[in-house]
Amino acid sequence: MGNVTILVGAQWGDEGKGKWIDILAKDSDIVARYQGGNNAGHTLYVDGEKVVLHQIPSGIFQDKTCALTAGVVVNPSQLVDEIQKVAHHTKLTPSNLWLSARAHVITPWHIYLDGKREAESDQPIGTTKRGIGPTYAEKANRTGLRLGDYVDEARRKQWLEMMTKRFPEFSANLKNQAADWEAFHGAASALGPYVVDAEAKLRADVKAGKRLLLEGAQGALLDINHGTYPFVTSSSTAAGGAFSSLGLSPRYIDKIYGVAKAYLTRVGEGPFPTELFDDTGKKMAEKGHEFGATTGRPRRCGWLDGVALRYCVDANGFDGIILNKMDILSDFDELKIAVAYEHPELGEIKDFPWSFEVLKDCKPIYKTVKGWSGDIPNSGSMDQLPQEALDYIKEIEQIIDAPVSHVGTGVNRQDALFR
Ligand code: GTP
Repeated sequence: MGNVTILVGAQWGDEGKGKWIDILAKDSDIVARYQGGNNAGHTLYVDGEKVVLHQIPSGIFQDKTCALTAGVVVNPSQLVDEIQKVAHHTKLTPSNLWLSARAHVITPWHIYLDGKREAESDQPIGTTKRGIGPTYAEKANRTGLRLGDYVDEARRKQWLEMMTKRFPEFSANLKNQAADWEAFHGAASALGPYVVDAEAKLRADVKAGKRLLLEGAQGALLDINHGTYPFVTSSSTAAGGAFSSLGLSPRYIDKIYGVAKAYLTRVGEGPFPTELFDDTGKKMAEKGHEFGATTGRPRRCGWLDGVALRYCVDANGFDGIILNKMDILSDFDELKIAVAYEHPELGEIKDFPWSFEVLKDCKPIYKTVKGWSGDIPNSGSMDQLPQEALDYIKEIEQIIDAPVSHVGTGVNRQDALFR
């Protein structure tokens, strides 16, 4: 049996992965982020205090060693701020925070390009404008700046000179965003001691039997290969992406969990067949506080999409679905789950389409079940749920052909039900 567990968002992000990483980290030795950057916003409540983590893995509050691996992109000055922000809970030192020298660095230039592209495009993606996409593009172009080079002043300068030569706009950017560039340079010496061959250290520990928890950000439907392209993020969010980021053999896998909300939300642009535009959608948004942790943007809300979730189960091989925010669905007369789609030309579709052009014209075919009223139990066993909630879970399990292993019942660490 392996000793690596992966937790992946099973929808379009914001499923509440942060809380579950915090819960699962208790039984792990190391927690590592494998993709994305500070476009993630993992919200945790630690001793009653709300903390939003954008780059540091959510295992930090269980006092575990944390790592950012090669597939992550790092905003240096924000990471320094975040290290300071969590210091009163956990002091981060080079022995409990490992930053991969291979991870790529987000610069003010990439942030500028992200904003420019979104503003000028006739098909904006609805990105967080944090420079994530342009940084991954630079990486794929083989002209990116890696963390190991960034913390070396001479190599950082070399990279800046190369960029100045390549892009006429680059010099203007250095002047126009002087304060951002100053913060960028300022963070290098603070991060230097944390930058290591994180993959080699992780491999050694995993081989020695230490338990590793891999923390996904965003969600599987935003995966660059398997998501609703082009309305996706720029990294491999799905379980398979984790091992390439780590340089670790997939043979070490123990469990793969997918976190899904008991309903569905989406931020930014892109098709969303079960989206609700009525009072039911508004009720979900208000009860669920559906506003982005990173951008504050309101999230679009709708019924659980069983077609999309079944696709994520298939593409990730989830051992269990963590059905989160189940408490938000109390006091709805009835609940709906999409079991298939109806397309004007293609008729009934049972499998999640590869093309967003098809998906955008799909109307959901629903299975309707009875809702429940009143609060659900906060912690303990799933058996204590009202019968209607158990029926809802059973329906989902049949539709997606995977078990629901955990249920989320609130924002705190202890708000979790287990099988
Ligand atoms: P991304 O990686 O950015 O996609 O974030 P995330 O998946 O970690 O989700 P995020 O923390 O942004 O959003 C989840 C929100 O739901 C947070 O405000 C959590 O405190 C809250 N939350 C988590 N679990 C539950 C739950 O079971 N019930 C309720 N009501 N809220 C929850």
